[in-house]
Amino acid sequence: MSAEDQKRAAGEAAAALVQPGMVVGLGTGSTAAWFVRALGARKLDIVGVATSRSTATLAQELGIRVAELGETGPIDLTVDGADEIGPALSLIKGGGAALLREKLVWEASRRCVVIADAGKRVPRLGAFPLPVEVVAFGHRTTLDRICDALSECDIGAAPRQRLKDGSPVLTDGGNVIYDIACGRIDAPAALAAALKSVTGVVDHGLFLDLADLALVATDAGVVEIEP
Ligand code: A5P
Repeated sequence: MSAEDQKRAAGEAAAALVQPGMVVGLGTGSTAAWFVRALGARKLDIVGVATSRSTATLAQELGIRVAELGETGPIDLTVDGADEIGPALSLIKGGGAALLREKLVWEASRRCVVIADAGKRVPRLGAFPLPVEVVAFGHRTTLDRICDALSECDIGAAPRQRLKDGSPVLTDGGNVIYDIACGRIDAPAALAAALKSVTGVVDHGLFLDLADLALVATDAGVVEIEP
């Protein structure tokens, strides 16, 4: 089974968790898009809260009602992809530059389900470069403080600003992204706290203690993993 087929299988398995009347957080990325498509096909009476403009557009095209975060009651269930799934369902997210809105929606959700192809499972986080969302104003000075925070965590990697076609990638909130090729992250909670304490850092792609369940598609079927 190709990675794309696995993403689709995971998305479809997650769509089966949705019940009529739910408020559903809609993730971002290619795996989450399979979830949104499968959800749209079910034609349930639900309200979606999108984690990016692109997901909101996709959901609306599929006939899913979309509300802003905070316009509805609590979000019953959020389903989203990940770049890495590590021990205890620790995650790296943000490869699609939607990490801040994703984290806002996840934190407002009663239950969060991460969906992925089997290649996303790792014994330790860090091979995928960790995205950090930074306020555009003065971001080069913020970068200096990010490097200090990394040194305190014994991480020597130099953050690289994310570019597309030579121009800075801007998030839906107008912020820039730096990617940190840590290689390995031995103490994710300490790194998360260090990055979060830097003025100018809006958020980072470490999602710790947030996922309640992972649905990981393998060639043998979709496997459920709990923290
Ligand atoms: C978006 O910012 C990300 O967090 C995605 O959920 C993550 O990059 C996974 O994307 P894919 O499902 O496309 O691999």
